Amino acid sequence: MGETIAGLERLGLEYFQDPHAFHARLREHEPATEVVLPRGLKVWLVTRYDEARMALGDARFSKDHRQFPDMVTRNHVGEAGPALFDQSLAAHMLNMDAPDHTRLRRLVTKAFTARRVEQLRPRVAQIADELLDGVADGATVDLIDAFAFPLPITVICEMLDVPGDERDDFREWSNVLVSGNDPEAMGQAGPAMAAYLGRLVQYKRDNPGDDFFSALVHASEDDDRLTEGELIAMAFLLLVAGHETTVNLISNGVLNLLRHPDQLAALRADRTLVPGAVEEFLRFQGPVNQATFRFTTEDVEMGNVTIPRHSVVMVSLLSANRDETRFPDADSFDITRPPGGHVAFGHGIHYCLGAPLARLEGEIAVGALLDRFDLALAAEPETLRWRESTLMHGLYSLPVSLTRRGAR
Ligand code: HEM
Repeated sequence: MGETIAGLERLGLEYFQDPHAFHARLREHEPATEVVLPRGLKVWLVTRYDEARMALGDARFSKDHRQFPDMVTRNHVGEAGPALFDQSLAAHMLNMDAPDHTRLRRLVTKAFTARRVEQLRPRVAQIADELLDGVADGATVDLIDAFAFPLPITVICEMLDVPGDERDDFREWSNVLVSGNDPEAMGQAGPAMAAYLGRLVQYKRDNPGDDFFSALVHASEDDDRLTEGELIAMAFLLLVAGHETTVNLISNGVLNLLRHPDQLAALRADRTLVPGAVEEFLRFQGPVNQATFRFTTEDVEMGNVTIPRHSVVMVSLLSANRDETRFPDADSFDITRPPGGHVAFGHGIHYCLGAPLARLEGEIAVGALLDRFDLALAAEPETLRWRESTLMHGLYSLPVSLTRRGAR
C-alpha cells in the first residue's frame, strides 16, 4: 500500500481508492494485522470473516470509549493528540457496553422494528418519486446529490421531525465527523453539530409533538433513563447513522449495476430479484468499510496472532464480506447468490438498529430508478473518487445520465 511506518503499512490514498486487493493480501496471511491509519493511529485490522464475527460479538472487544480515554487520538508512537469528538456527541449506545448500551437501545428499538418500518413504505416511495420527478429527461446528474443523499436524510429527518433548513450544514459537519481523518476540521464540526442538536432538543421541548423524538425528549425529563447528554448523542447517532450509510448503499449499488450490465438486465427483467440485489449490494461493496473502534480488555488470541490487551481494533466488514471461505467466488457481483450471512450491518449487540429501514430505502430507491429511467455511467470508472474514510465506503459523486423510459 505504499508507505510503511514503524514497519507497518499505512493506509493511504491508494487504499481508499481500492481497499479490496489490500484486504485480500492481508487475509491470506493472518486474520488480523497491525496497520497505521492516515492520521497515525496504530490499530489491529481484522480481515477474515469468522474472526470479524467473533470480534464484533465478543465482550472482550469493548466499545466503551470512557474506559480508554485518549486511545483513539494517539499516533503510532503513542503520543496523544487533540480529542476527535466533542464529548457531548460521544455518549451514545454505539460507544457503550452493556448495561448502558442495553438501556439506551431499549429506548429506541420500537421505532425501528421491521413492522414499524414497513408502515413507512408509502411515504418513502413518495419521497423517491418526488426526487426523481425533479430530474429532467436526458439529464446528467450526480446521483448522490440528486437522489441517494436526499432520500435517506429526508426519511430520518421526518421520523425525528427535524426541520428542513440547516440540512446542508448538517451534511457537511456529518461528513467531516465520520471521515475521521482531519482532527482540525473535526474540532470545528463537533461543537457546531452539538450546538445544532442542542437547539433541536430545545425546539422539541418548546414544540412537543407525538413524534418519536419528542418521546425521547420527554424520557430525558421525566425519569432517569436518558440524560441530557445522552439525548443529544442519541439524536446525533440516529441522524448520522440514518443517512451517511444508506447514501452509499444506493450509490454503490447503482454503480455496481452499471458496471455489470448483465446483472442490471436481469434485475430489469425480474423485479422479484430486488431484495436479493440489495443484499448483494451490501455484501459486495457495502457502505461501511471498517466498523467503529473496539478496545481489547485482555490479550485475545485470534488464529495465528495475539492481539494484546488495550489495543485498538477495527473490523473490516468489506473484507469479511469478500472472504472466499464464506462466500464462493466472493469477488464476483451476483444478485442471484443466496442472500444473507454478510456482516454489512455488523453483528452482536451493536447490530445495526436501522437495518430494516436501510433495506426498505435501498429496495424502493433502486425500484423507482429502474421504473423511470435507463441509466448510464457518465464518467470513466477510474475517475470516480472514493471518500478517504476508514468508516464509510462511498463515492464523492456518481455522475449518471438518465433517460426516461418510454420517452424515446
Ligand atoms: C445500508 C445502510 C446501513 C448500514 C450498512 C449500516 C451499518 C451499521 C453497522 C455496521 C453498525 C455497527 C457498527 C459497529 O458495530 O461498529 C451499525 C449500527 C447502528 N446503525 Fe446502522 N447502518 C445502516 C443504516 C442505518 C440506518 C438507516 C439507521 C437509522 C437510524 C441506522 C442506525 C444505527 C444505529 C443506531 C446503530 C448502533 C446500534 C447499537 O450500538 O446498538 N443505521 N449500522
